[in-house]
Amino acid sequence: MSSKAEPQNPLPWGEELPSFLPVEEAGVGSSRLPPPGQPVLRIRGVNHYFGTGDTRTQVLFDNTLEVMPGEMVIMSGPSGSGKTTLLTLIGGLRTLQEGQIEVWDADRGNYRTLRGVDEAELVQIRRLIGFIFQRHNLFDSLTALQNIRMAQQLKNSRPDPDSDARELLTYLLLGEKDIQGKPQKNRFHYKPAQLSGGQRQRVAVARALVNRPKLVLADEPTAALDANSGMAVVALLQSLARQRSEAEMRRLVRSPEEAGESGRLGEWQVPLLKRIATERGTTSLIVTHDARIMNLADRIVHMERGRIESNVVVAERLFVREGLRQCPAFAAILPEEQEKIADHILIGVHPNEPVRPDHLAAKPGCVEVYQPGEVIVRQGEPVNEHSKFYLIRRGTVEVLRETGGLPEKLTEMGPGRYFGEVALLMDQPRNATVRALTRVEVYTVNRVTFDRYRSVSLPFIERILANFRAGSRV
Ligand SMILES: Nc1ncnc2c1ncn2[C@@H]1O[C@H](COP(=O)(O)OP(=O)(O)O)[C@@H](O)[C@H]1O
Ligand SMILES: [Mg+2]
Repeated sequence: MSSKAEPQNPLPWGEELPSFLPVEEAGVGSSRLPPPGQPVLRIRGVNHYFGTGDTRTQVLFDNTLEVMPGEMVIMSGPSGSGKTTLLTLIGGLRTLQEGQIEVWDADRGNYRTLRGVDEAELVQIRRLIGFIFQRHNLFDSLTALQNIRMAQQLKNSRPDPDSDARELLTYLLLGEKDIQGKPQKNRFHYKPAQLSGGQRQRVAVARALVNRPKLVLADEPTAALDANSGMAVVALLQSLARQRSEAEMRRLVRSPEEAGESGRLGEWQVPLLKRIATERGTTSLIVTHDARIMNLADRIVHMERGRIESNVVVAERLFVREGLRQCPAFAAILPEEQEKIADHILIGVHPNEPVRPDHLAAKPGCVEVYQPGEVIVRQGEPVNEHSKFYLIRRGTVEVLRETGGLPEKLTEMGPGRYFGEVALLMDQPRNATVRALTRVEVYTVNRVTFDRYRSVSLPFIERILANFRAGSRV
């Protein structure tokens, strides 16, 4: 990705932005990523209807979504809101009636489209995807191991498929060791009917992931599982998405008392997990209410009554919230209000990724783009209802002030820094010029919104205005 080459500016609050971009692509083989800034999955204007004639009912309404490489996306929403229907459409398990769905084919290096294609093409598309569905269609006449070995015959991606299959099952606690490392009878040669619901679900997980698909579609993958098996699945999905630090991994290996409801990894599972998850950048779309998975999400998509009601990139929300929180104008308002302002201006794109014109068109007035040399605010300009507050999303600006003679450069600012609040707060002309040094993207909060909160936090602002009058803030 293009953003990988760019150094990440440390943010003013002293952190680096969590990134969902694959940290390394070792072992990806012939697979290729989509062009920079392009998604692996693109859904546009998808409607869906069940039934015919009088009983024809619309269950999906104008759903649009993009998922980036390596993202772990959680879909939430009440029962009946259309999550499963959307997932089955994406997977080519149901005929797409209206709208467009495109899935990136890493082997071919282009998009496959799901609208109006024949069954043979749908079969090809399904092979790109790992399905973990509740009605896991395991073959009843085959054992756990045979079910997985059979899936491997579609696409041989590992040097030693038999041991890979066994390792996956062992990691998922179906092998010769229990969570504590004590011997147990393995379930390799059990047929589905001899396995519990949770065990069948884990076989289905192993089967879905054994060919290391670049896209995983999972519908409640941990719902039928006990806490420790659930954790094994969660950690596996996360490790396939991106590299985990040793410390992160250690935190999952807890004592049984500590683990409680959230489950834990056994000591011996850690090296096994590393061997299994050597490829990164797996994108997954997971329907779940499991808080453990929610906490790992890069993007949270919420559905209500057949519509995607919200689509939040977790890192972007964090970036904007923290940025606003640094600004005294917003520091005094309630965290819930800060969140409302932040969520209002989110565009659903990770701040490491440049915005595209279609993003700007989809959410006008939230982000502005400036070319190098362009002036964003000009010294002396009076403030009016169109004036704005700015939070830098990407790029670098310089702050210049003229005091009689030549303009003096006060400072440079990068991502996560803000400007423009002083004039709005004090209702005075801009006291400096801010100019783009590079291509600059800024989030903006308009005067109306700004003033609404300004009155709430006035007593607090009065105190800090004293500092501004003496200081050099823009
Ligand atoms: N095969 C079907 N035939 C008719 N209606 C269906 C069918 N599958 C789902 N529905 C209806 O479509 C809506 C969305 O269902 P679903 O996608 O299963 O929601 P969710 O997965 O969010 O619970 C519901 O109203 C459900 O009753
Ligand atoms: Mg469902």
